[in-house]
Amino acid sequence: MKTVRFGIIGCGLMGREFASAAARWAHLTDMPARPEIVAACDSNDALFPWYQQACPQLKQTTSDYKQLLANGDVDAVYVAVPHHLHREIYTAVITAGKHLMGEKPFGIDLPACRAILDVAEKHPQVFVRCSSESPFFPAMQSLCAMIERNEFGRIIEVDCGFQHSSDLDPYKPINWKRMIEFCGEYGVLGDLGMHACHVPFRAGWRPRNVRAILSDIVKQRPDGKGGTAPCRTWENGTMLCEVTDPVNGEPFPLTMKLQRIAPGMRNNWYISIMGTKTSVRWSSVHCDVLEVLQYESGKAQGWQQIQTGYEPAHKTITGNIFQFGFTDSIQQMWAAFLYELVEGKPIAHFAGCVRPEEVLLSHRLFTAALQSQRESSVVAL
Ligand SMILES: NC(=O)c1ccc[n+]([C@@H]2O[C@H](COP(=O)([O-])OP(=O)(O)OC[C@H]3O[C@@H](n4cnc5c(N)ncnc54)[C@H](O)[C@@H]3O)[C@@H](O)[C@H]2O)c1
Repeated sequence: MKTVRFGIIGCGLMGREFASAAARWAHLTDMPARPEIVAACDSNDALFPWYQQACPQLKQTTSDYKQLLANGDVDAVYVAVPHHLHREIYTAVITAGKHLMGEKPFGIDLPACRAILDVAEKHPQVFVRCSSESPFFPAMQSLCAMIERNEFGRIIEVDCGFQHSSDLDPYKPINWKRMIEFCGEYGVLGDLGMHACHVPFRAGWRPRNVRAILSDIVKQRPDGKGGTAPCRTWENGTMLCEVTDPVNGEPFPLTMKLQRIAPGMRNNWYISIMGTKTSVRWSSVHCDVLEVLQYESGKAQGWQQIQTGYEPAHKTITGNIFQFGFTDSIQQMWAAFLYELVEGKPIAHFAGCVRPEEVLLSHRLFTAALQSQRESSVVAL
């Protein structure tokens, strides 16, 4: 098995998720490669002791990402830092000739995204992907297989989204994800949007236009120092898009809802596809369950609930009778990154990490959505 030596830049919430997935790589059974975390970089050195315990091969810790990029033992880099740093650090990683898994939104805005992709184009030997894990739930893989098999007949509509609820609490202190200068003008679109875009874009469902309505619901928050700070990011966003089905050229509406304030929803990824032959829906609230309705003329229309088992794209030691969870989806996403890096293509069409052209499309959509909100208009893409 090939070893890919990784550096991590940004050792917070998501950096730790990668390190944890790498630490239990033996969980996967048929992988052509494994990650070895040899370097970690964060401006907060209090984070390093956890990594030193979790990553036995860790040799370098630094607060300067340029030192990590100068390390000849690093083959690939995972960058999980606030959005205002994506452009500088992602372009530096690619220019240093290291493979990149970058966190979404892959640049704070469209110019930043374009700048990263321009550099990537000049370094075709560097493998560049963006993180997004929800398609790796086994129920989602089953749903994606239905897309591949064109099971829906004519698509009537597609709804998808990502909902959180913790921002309903007006006393939750502000952090960088709620500050325009660090998170970006996109607000919730940049923060949660890629999760909703990944499967529709991979299906070839490209928005032709968008009408967006964005909401700023909590306008100030505790600053964590006894005062208050303005909270100017969009908390919720709904985008209604027109899409042409590549299978039959027919149009259908695609609605994406991205919400930091969805009462009761702790972490809800969801998608529903309604079709004239078959309809399907999935939500991570009951992440094992896939609901399917197969229409037959003259017969009662009823939803079937199918409990999927632990049957992800990349095989593991876990029996298929067991249940799958968030940390499993993260490990599957990393398996997909390493598999595609080594094998040149993903194990299945929908079991691949987000490609640069899909990232660019998401930025074009979010930028058009901002314009739509400003002008109360439908914006063509
Ligand atoms: N895929 C997902 O499900 C998911 C979930 C949450 C966040 N994210 C994305 O991951 C990225 C990071 O988010 P997070 O939740 O891990 O944030 P976080 O705040 O927990 O971690 C970011 C880390 O970056 C460090 N950092 C800041 N400036 C730095 C610099 N100049 N050099 C080195 N380190 C620096 C911070 O000290 C912090 O430890 C963002 O792009 C975010 O949108 C993805």
